Amino acid sequence: MPALVLLGAQWGDEGKGKATDLLGGSVDYVVRYQGGNNAGHTVVVGDQKYALHLLPSGILSPGCTPVIGNGVVVDPSVLLSELSGLNERGVDTSKLLISGNAHIITPYNVTVDKVTERFLGKRKIGTTGRGIGPTYADKINRVGIRVQDLYDESILTQKVEAALDVKNQMLTKLFNRRAIGVEQVVEELLGYADKLAPYVSDTVLVLNQALEQDKVVLFEGGQGTLLDIDHGTYPFVTSSNPTAGGACTGSGVGPTKISRVIGILKAYTTRVGAGPFPTELFDEDGEALRRIGGERGVTTGRDRRCGWFDAVIARYATRVNGLTDFFLTKLDVLTGWEQIPVCVAYEIDGKRVEELPYSQTDFHHAKPVYEMLPGWSEDISRAKSFSDLPKNAQAYVKALEEMSGAPISAIGVGPGRTETIEINSFL
Ligand code: IMP
Repeated sequence: MPALVLLGAQWGDEGKGKATDLLGGSVDYVVRYQGGNNAGHTVVVGDQKYALHLLPSGILSPGCTPVIGNGVVVDPSVLLSELSGLNERGVDTSKLLISGNAHIITPYNVTVDKVTERFLGKRKIGTTGRGIGPTYADKINRVGIRVQDLYDESILTQKVEAALDVKNQMLTKLFNRRAIGVEQVVEELLGYADKLAPYVSDTVLVLNQALEQDKVVLFEGGQGTLLDIDHGTYPFVTSSNPTAGGACTGSGVGPTKISRVIGILKAYTTRVGAGPFPTELFDEDGEALRRIGGERGVTTGRDRRCGWFDAVIARYATRVNGLTDFFLTKLDVLTGWEQIPVCVAYEIDGKRVEELPYSQTDFHHAKPVYEMLPGWSEDISRAKSFSDLPKNAQAYVKALEEMSGAPISAIGVGPGRTETIEINSFL
């Protein structure tokens, strides 16, 4: 059954856009199943660079139907401006499908995200400030607004009233903010209804029928495994499930339909926002990774924290996602180092630990145990096959594969669409 999941194996920003787009030409549907416009994909097509936040990257492949699944949270103003930005550049977006069950990021949830972070002070999560957490909180609290609510003014008004009831108390009494008016919110949301109407559909039915007809469906995760609300470095996580199980709940496709789960793995590690990061570098090497790798957030413009490759995390990602393959990205960024340290285990309170500790306290105390691998200096961006890579680059890839527990089936050697070595086909 041709249903594949592509997800981040680290803390996000592994280069998923490139991987999804590479497959986009041969897949019929590309589905986002969680997150919202907190994600950021950079996709390079020819000499054009596209930054996508909410739309599935399959939107750039003409034969492909992009789908925003029920598990996604949608900011309508961001969605519409992303669509018109693409239309202005000649990209046809008419095939897009949006689940009527997806939740809407309301303007008050963006406000709540920002004021909560400010209130937390030095304990803040470092969220993207896009209203993601509060929108998922409303969903779980059963006071969320769904895309389908835009088409019933009376229901929409009642739901906004219910949501603002408590929030206005909080905003005025706790955060010293002005209350938000129900009418103003309802009016803004209704203003999106007609513009979104052509895209709204029963995506659960569409996707399951597509799979029955042997169409190829690709599920594209936002963020990454270690940012998962259940399996990540809680509380420094996002509020959804980027891990493989999320593809099922966030789309309405059952687990027996998933044939392959591909983890996108950067040849080193980055993280945005707060939280533990054992291999983080605070020296010239970290600065060099940031500069050469262009490690600046697509969504927030924040510099990413950078560090060496962490095999403990990669093994963990293999386990919690049931990964069948890895797509190793940005190998070219490591060109030029004489020796490359790779974290093979942690030392926690004087003991060597091979697997990711479940305890937050232990993880905060984890110190990386490094093994040094020999580097290479040759330009690898034109390598087309594994054997084109310098011997030491081959050995680096093989070592990572052995430590991470799943085969590396593709390697990114540059940002462009063609700068990829395919070892095993994903389809
Ligand atoms: P939120 O998703 O905006 O609530 O932010 C929660 C945490 O996830 C913060 O540390 C963010 O920096 C991080 N985060 C959210 N989206 C991404 C992403 O696409 N890449 C990397 N980190 C992200």
